[in-house]
Amino acid sequence: MKGLVRALALALIVSTLPATRSPSAETTGGGLWRDGQLAGRPVEARLEPTGQVLRGKTVACARCHGSEAEGGGEGGVRAPALVRRGARSPGLDEATLARALTFGIGLDGRRLHPAMPRYALESAAVDALLAELDRLARRSIEGVAPRRLRFATVWPAGPVRESLHALVERWRHLILVEGGIFHREVELLVLPNETTAALATLGRQPALALLLDDAPADLLAALRGRELPELFPLRPAYGREPGSVRRLGAPLAVEARLLLEALIDDLDGRGTIDIVAEPELVATLEPLLERHPALVRTSGPGVDALLLLRPPAGARARRIYAPVDLLARVGPALPAAAERIVVTDPRALPPGSPEPSPRARRLLGDPATAGPLLRHAGAALLVLETALRRLGRDVTRARLLAALDELGTVTTGLVPPWSARPGPEAGAAVIRIDRRTGERSIDPWRRPGEAPNAGRRLEDENRRSER
Ligand code: HEC
Repeated sequence: MKGLVRALALALIVSTLPATRSPSAETTGGGLWRDGQLAGRPVEARLEPTGQVLRGKTVACARCHGSEAEGGGEGGVRAPALVRRGARSPGLDEATLARALTFGIGLDGRRLHPAMPRYALESAAVDALLAELDRLARRSIEGVAPRRLRFATVWPAGPVRESLHALVERWRHLILVEGGIFHREVELLVLPNETTAALATLGRQPALALLLDDAPADLLAALRGRELPELFPLRPAYGREPGSVRRLGAPLAVEARLLLEALIDDLDGRGTIDIVAEPELVATLEPLLERHPALVRTSGPGVDALLLLRPPAGARARRIYAPVDLLARVGPALPAAAERIVVTDPRALPPGSPEPSPRARRLLGDPATAGPLLRHAGAALLVLETALRRLGRDVTRARLLAALDELGTVTTGLVPPWSARPGPEAGAAVIRIDRRTGERSIDPWRRPGEAPNAGRRLEDENRRSER
């Protein structure tokens, strides 16, 4: 024991935390773990029994224990994993960690192999390391591994799934040949369509997020119970959604507003209309409706126009106004009596949109010939990739969602400008279809409240946002 105390006394005192707690525990722990840095300076540690002093990266915990604390080691000595199944190793707390670091005593009380260096860290630094270990543990149950980021998906069967799958595979390949995103390759786990089987698979192989377009309703509900980020469902939502969903494209409220504007224009502001929608959505339309008192809201057959914003209850009308994706879903159930159908297309590109990037071309070939859904999916992957690259190595679900939100407005040249926080940039094109003659007229992409044909040029937009 005496020897040990002397060794400790001789042990070099490493840099201490600054008095002010300016760097957060998160960056302190991460810096120590990954880089052997503390408060911007290389940490020092001593090797037993020679007393050799090593600094910085050489004594960074990650070098031996692995970047995700999954265990590792060089030259036959194994540094154990310090996290297990989403938590730090049993018995690892402030006291036992401090004991291992200063005295080289293991969690089970035995003397550790001399390959584990001796550190002299203040308790704040030990706490920060524990916090970092907790973060790493969480990552491991969020589908993030040292060399891999796992995403999961459920796609409807058939050609849609095949083409989306092929696209994701191409994206994965592009990333792989570039050496990964911060050395991690992307994995896509295709879940079975059946709920119990899907949840079991996800339990065994946790995923960072879901790349989802469509899923059976009960499976979707079960997946949503797990609070996995749901990235870029490609079609608009027709009801309420959890906060972990990041949808690509204009929110339904924007389409609703554009459709109502078209309807008011077509009816010259007078007549009977029926609105089939969630009450929250109707509430967003109220101010516009109030400005047109000659427009009477009623329900039942024979109204002049029907504004359809969720799957219909068999209403009939001569004119129907609906998002194109909703009509595609409703399909044959669409009242045959309608003479005129007006749809919004949220995938139409605003005038002056930039050309698709070279990366978009590598992903999609000629984007002009790719269908709207593939263009949409391609844009979703590019947005996701941008967010992931911003995160660096420190990928967690929460940080991914935050990074998406922080991207601001993203222009891909494949879909209209996108922002995770729906902003004034959202819009759609309005298309009028005469069902008897088959004639179509298309108003170019615009935002709610803008006169038709007033689509602002994106360059102006970018210039304005730079100021
Ligand atoms: C140069 C390699 C190396 C570095 C750097 C290193 N360790 Fe270790 N560590 C080891 C080895 C090897 C063992 C296992 C020794 C044994 O089993 O006898 C170990 C054991 C441990 C243990 C005991 C685990 C148990 O189950 O008893 C803890 C805790 C630990 N290290 C934490 C850290 C922390 C925290 C850092 C960074 C501040 C760090 N280590 C840096 C090599 C290293």
